[in-house]
Formats: sequence, C-alpha cells, structure tokens
Amino acid sequence: MSCTVDARVDLSVDIAGVKLKNPVMVASGTFGFGTEYAAYMDVSRLGAIVTKGLTLQPRTGNPPPRIWETPAGMLNSIGLQNPGIDAYLEHHLPALRAFKVPVIANVCGDTVKEYAEIARRLECHEGADAIEVNISCPNVERGGIAFGSDPRSAVAVVEAVKRATSLPVIVKLTPNVTDIAEIARACEGAGADALSLVNTLLGMAIDIYRMRPALGNVFGGLSGPAIRPVAVRMVWQVREAVDLPLIGMGGIASFEDALEFILAGASAVAVGSGTFADPACAIRVIDGIGQYMANNGFERVSHMVGLAHKCR
Ligand SMILES: Cc1cc2nc3c(=O)[nH]c(=O)nc-3n(C[C@H](O)[C@H](O)[C@H](O)COP(=O)(O)O)c2cc1C
Repeated sequence: MSCTVDARVDLSVDIAGVKLKNPVMVASGTFGFGTEYAAYMDVSRLGAIVTKGLTLQPRTGNPPPRIWETPAGMLNSIGLQNPGIDAYLEHHLPALRAFKVPVIANVCGDTVKEYAEIARRLECHEGADAIEVNISCPNVERGGIAFGSDPRSAVAVVEAVKRATSLPVIVKLTPNVTDIAEIARACEGAGADALSLVNTLLGMAIDIYRMRPALGNVFGGLSGPAIRPVAVRMVWQVREAVDLPLIGMGGIASFEDALEFILAGASAVAVGSGTFADPACAIRVIDGIGQYMANNGFERVSHMVGLAHKCR
C-alpha cells in the first residue's frame, strides 16, 4: 500500500524515548492486537499500536449487552476482556512485532502489586516499547478508575510500576474527575514519563422497550465525537499543568480533530472509536496531518504542539 505523506514534512515524534514515525496511534481496546485489521489497512504505517488492556489473569469481561450506540458516540462496558499477560506475551506479541511498529502495552490491575507484576513481566519478555498504565477504566469493580481519581492512589501505582520496569511509563488519565490537572501533577511527581488522555466518560442509557439499563453492567464508558470537546479541554489544562509529553484522544475521526489536540498541547494522538466507523481512519488522519503541515509551512510536528496556547 502506498504512503501519501508529503516528503517536505517530518512527521516523526519522540514520546518519552519511543520513536514514532508519525504522531498517530490506535487507542487501547479499539484495535484488538493489530492482526484483526491487517486485511483493511497497512498497519505498519501507524505511529504506534496500543494493545487492549492487559491484566494478570485472563478476564471474560462484563455481561452483555456491552455496546450501545449514542448520538455521535457509543457506550461500552467491555470490562477488560483479555487473555491475560502471559497469553499476550506468548500468542499475540509475535504477530504484533511483525508490523515493525512500536507497541505500547496497556495494563490494568486490581491492586498496586498487580500493576507492578505485569510491568515486570513485560520488561522480562521485551513485551512492549512502553507501558500505558490504565488508571482510568470505568468498567471494572476494582482498580482502574479508582486509582485514577485519587492523586495518592495514582502516585502509588505509578511509583510501583516505575520501580518494576525501565520501560517508559505512560499514565492514562480519566476524564471522570473534577480537576484532571491535579491528577496529572501527581503522576508527574511520581515519575510518569508521559500522560495519555482521555479514557471514556462514565455514562448510561436506558432501553425503553426492555425498560432496563441498556448495558448489562448498567454503566459504561462514552467515547466518540461526543466527548471530543471535553477531551480537548483536558489536554489544554494538563498542558498548562505539567511538562510531560501528552497523547491526546477522544473522538478523533479526522485530521482536523487530531490537530485540535496537537495545537492544544498533545505531542501525539490516538484514534479509538473512529476505527469502528472506518478501519483506515488512523491512516487518513496521518495523511491529513502531513498535508496540513505542507500547506501551512510546518516542517516538524513539534512546531505545532501547544501552539494554540501562544496564539491566544
Ligand atoms: C470498546 C472499547 C474498549 C476500550 N478498552 C480500553 C482498554 O482496555 N484500556 C484503556 O485504557 N482504554 C480503553 N478504551 C478507551 C479508549 O482507548 C479511548 O481512551 C476512548 O475510547 C476515547 O477515545 P475515542 O473517543 O477515540 O474512542 C476502550 C474504548 C472502547 C470504545
């Protein structure tokens, strides 16, 4: 498949020491383990692949229904269904590595110790180029968002993971907090190498014909274009609060959407639910950013990062 990015621009970015050929990755939980999409797009063109959330033991996830369409978005309550860290290392990692794209392993634990143990196994088996610590999953009873909505708990997780690995540690933040800048500062103080934001917004829907909650788990996470203004606002606030590279996401479906995040302060972006509507969405976003840079005289992505703060 051809690469249509303009040769005059350099799309490469460096996120906490991980070199990406462009700033567009695919968001955790929306791209399986990569192989599922190989028939629809050139996966090797992605900036990075973020894996589905990995836990210490395999998980079957929440009871169905687990997906519900909403205006300009969707609710999901998957509940971290995944094969567990050992099966990932043995069965999924080799195929992922074959794409020759940086792999970011998204991890989640019930306890601080579990987060650290998963990080240790990833390090031992060269299971990733970076770890994305999910302290923001809204669909699990323990762990996840509970760690991400309290600065002290967030610090405990980040410090434990940092002690367990020398891989770059990206912390994924939840939008379900009053002050995201406070959590971001706590993670920076604990040694996070980068932050990604946002995970889904907690929501629910009622199925009026069955007269009950639409999702088996009652609550779910809202994603898609409906959350983009909230996500852009949070990237803006976190940019002003910390000095770490940011990965922005939430409703990106076009290069214009991605550029909002970059100009607000994100050094890279991730496409999530957008892939469900168009499997090649991330590729369109890469090409669009390249074209925008050529049209507007930007040679490097870093020249655009956070520019909107200066142009106020
Ligand atoms: C079906 C589905 C599964 C997801 N699973 C995970 C996950 O395992 N770990 C995680 O950190 N985020 C997970 N997310 C959140 C996404 O990575 C992303 O942060 C969020 O959907 C916002 O981006 P979007 O609006 O582009 O989808 C999931 C999202 C969806 C829609």
